Amino acid sequence: MNTMINIALPKGRLGEKVYALLESVGYGCEAMKESSRKLIFEDEQNGVRYFWVKPSDVAIYVEHGAADVGVVGKDILLEQQSDVYELLDLKFGVCKMAVAGKRDFHPNPAKVLKVATKFPHIASRYYASLSQEIEIIKLNGSIELAPILGMSDVIVDIVETGTTLKENDLVVLQDIVPISARFIANKASFKFKNEQIVCMQNRICAHLPD
Ligand code: PRP
Repeated sequence: MNTMINIALPKGRLGEKVYALLESVGYGCEAMKESSRKLIFEDEQNGVRYFWVKPSDVAIYVEHGAADVGVVGKDILLEQQSDVYELLDLKFGVCKMAVAGKRDFHPNPAKVLKVATKFPHIASRYYASLSQEIEIIKLNGSIELAPILGMSDVIVDIVETGTTLKENDLVVLQDIVPISARFIANKASFKFKNEQIVCMQNRICAHLPD
């Protein structure tokens, strides 16, 4: 019997890249090519069912078993501390998590550092590892504005090309961790659909650059 593998893909450019990769290794789904607002697509012959989900929700679907596997940025896995298996580093969506601020920023040891970020857990863990007390200002986007407007001292954010920082006169002050897309699996699915998931993992792996 052909057991279906449920795959959560992040909506957007990363997801399309991942779908193209999966299609090239035998997990195509013709219906995915029709442009529509549908969120679920199934290809019985290839044994796959795809879900388009918000990128920050991929690991939640996988952790809860609604999807067996998925592709998600390491930034989201670190922020959500998702309880999933991380099977492959797909080596795309490459960027880094970093502390950034004004070029002339000098920390004042007498004051608590104000950190603006979309990633409060990553920022808290990073500064805890330095035994540094901080105040987190949680934002949802345009993080670079915070130090420019004097709302925070620094930001903890994704840096990909560095263009956003540059165009806003900010610089990387410290690197925290490299980030890239990861192929993840639900822990129970990995046990019960092991053959299919490992087969998919191996086929993807064979297609990745060294
Ligand atoms: C992300 C991130 C930076 C930018 C980094 O923002 O928060 O602002 O991309 O990319 P770069 O180094 O290539 O310039 P995103 O585009 O997700 O928008 P947001 O501000 O709404 O979070």
